[in-house]
Amino acid sequence: MVVKKLVKNKKERKKVELVKEKNVEVKSSRPKFVGEAQIEVRNATKDFIVGSQTINVLKGISLKIKAGDFAIIFGPSGCGKSTLLHAILGMEAPTTGEVLLDGQSLYAMSEDDVVRFRKARIGVVFQQSIWIKSLNVIENVSLPNRLKGMDVDEAETLAMETLKKVKLEDWAHHHPSELSSGQQQRISLARALTIDPMVIVADEPTGNLDTVSSDELMDLLLDLSQNQGKTVLMVTHDLEYLKYASKLFHIIDGLLVEEFDSKGAEKLSKAMKSKKGARSNLTVADGDFLKNNNDTYAIK
Ligand SMILES: Nc1ncnc2c1ncn2[C@@H]1O[C@H](COP(=O)(O)OP(=O)(O)OP(=O)(O)O)[C@@H](O)[C@H]1O
Ligand SMILES: [Mg+2]
Repeated sequence: MVVKKLVKNKKERKKVELVKEKNVEVKSSRPKFVGEAQIEVRNATKDFIVGSQTINVLKGISLKIKAGDFAIIFGPSGCGKSTLLHAILGMEAPTTGEVLLDGQSLYAMSEDDVVRFRKARIGVVFQQSIWIKSLNVIENVSLPNRLKGMDVDEAETLAMETLKKVKLEDWAHHHPSELSSGQQQRISLARALTIDPMVIVADEPTGNLDTVSSDELMDLLLDLSQNQGKTVLMVTHDLEYLKYASKLFHIIDGLLVEEFDSKGAEKLSKAMKSKKGARSNLTVADGDFLKNNNDTYAIK
């Protein structure tokens, strides 16, 4: 089984098996959080019923993310990363378990309150930019605040401020389709930022971008977390970016199998580089990564 191949160290493997058997939280050997967690997932499970079958996608995941963290979730395709993000975003309730944002239990709120909370506090960037085709860039970026009832002038002033942050203010009156994919993702980030969210959640935001555009987007996200006090929570398949994480969560088959702090994340990134040269093309999206990189992967 993949877990066995990956986690060579006996003690670590025991931990993984324990999680599988008893749904207990993986205990990190790294320092515990000092303050309250801003995002907390408590023993979340998620089952999908497809036809006569029940698929257990999340099998008891617990994690904590502090304000200002740059948290990255990684793991093979289909392991449940997006499902976990959707639970954290209040889009899809876990089957059992709890999600707390700023200490508030998300699914204890009414559905309307969850939507209001998300619109007010969380900025979202997906892999593919989604636009209202009839609107130009600044109108699209203004939309989250317009939907909250803000008047046009105020919403566009705020939109222009965030467009400046992503250095695309000159494109404000163009149509999004005139921009490159990388520019469109920066516009998506501007739209996410315009509500001044406490958390930015991004699901493979660089998935469709070339390396230069990816680096630009990642630098913006890093700046938000390091210099502007924002919490970033993202999923990536790109090993190059694991080093950005202050909290790195490795998910396999619906379980959190390893958790790293920034030092661990850097060590993992370096190990991958030394094996594959300056910039690895490897991703964690497929089984080959798992097969070919057991040695470097299992960090002691
Ligand atoms: N609404 C749904 N109904 C049924 N099955 C679902 C649903 N959403 C997700 N799944 C299944 O749950 C599993 C995990 O999906 P998820 O999208 O969370 O994976 P992922 O880790 O984000 O993968 P990827 O890296 O490819 O984006 C998959 O097997 C998927 O088919
Ligand atoms: Mg996904």
